[in-house]
Amino acid sequence: MSGVAIRPAREADLERLAAIERAAMGTARGLDVWHREFRAPAFHTWLAEGADGPVGYACVSVAADEGSLNHIAVHPGWRRRGVARALLAHVLGVLAAWGVTEVFLDVRAGNVAARALYRAADFDEVAVRPGYYADPPEDAVICRRRLAASAHG
Ligand SMILES: CC(C)(COP(=O)(O)OP(=O)(O)OC[C@H]1O[C@@H](n2cnc3c(N)ncnc32)[C@H](O)[C@@H]1OP(=O)(O)O)[C@@H](O)C(=O)NCCC(=O)NCCS
Repeated sequence: MSGVAIRPAREADLERLAAIERAAMGTARGLDVWHREFRAPAFHTWLAEGADGPVGYACVSVAADEGSLNHIAVHPGWRRRGVARALLAHVLGVLAAWGVTEVFLDVRAGNVAARALYRAADFDEVAVRPGYYADPPEDAVICRRRLAASAHG
């Protein structure tokens, strides 16, 4: 994929990332939530940056050797260009280098695009949590990706 670079987010990026979230999801966490998560040691955010600034992001948290992909979104104007695939590949590479051995995420059962993205990135759908989401109510599909130990440190 060309045209974007992946880098760790800085606190000054958060307003742009919240705007991408609003455009991508229709709803967004408040900026205070973004800042709180950003400052929490276990939380890490990377963004994909085009010529005019960020176009997508991925947020993970890490506990011991387990990672959790909490959020990933790409601005609607940048979809189907491999941005999310590049973000995921980058993040999984970093987590493997940190010694993370498994990454989990949950996704709305009806989110066809995200489920296809995760399948393409070798996540396995391992469980369903009935009625997990609200507004609208929907099942969550739990996905897991095992990571090989990385030589990088
Ligand atoms: C899900 C999302 C992040 C995908 O971002 P993206 O940059 O468009 O995805 P990519 O271009 O990297 O796609 C990689 C692969 O995922 C799958 N995919 C992505 N979007 C898809 C769609 N709309 N329909 C079917 N498959 C899709 C395809 O396998 C695709 O490979 P291909 O284009 O070679 O066929 C984006 O649609 C989004 O921001 N959605 C709203 C936020 C969201 O739902 N986040 C996930 C919450 S769990």
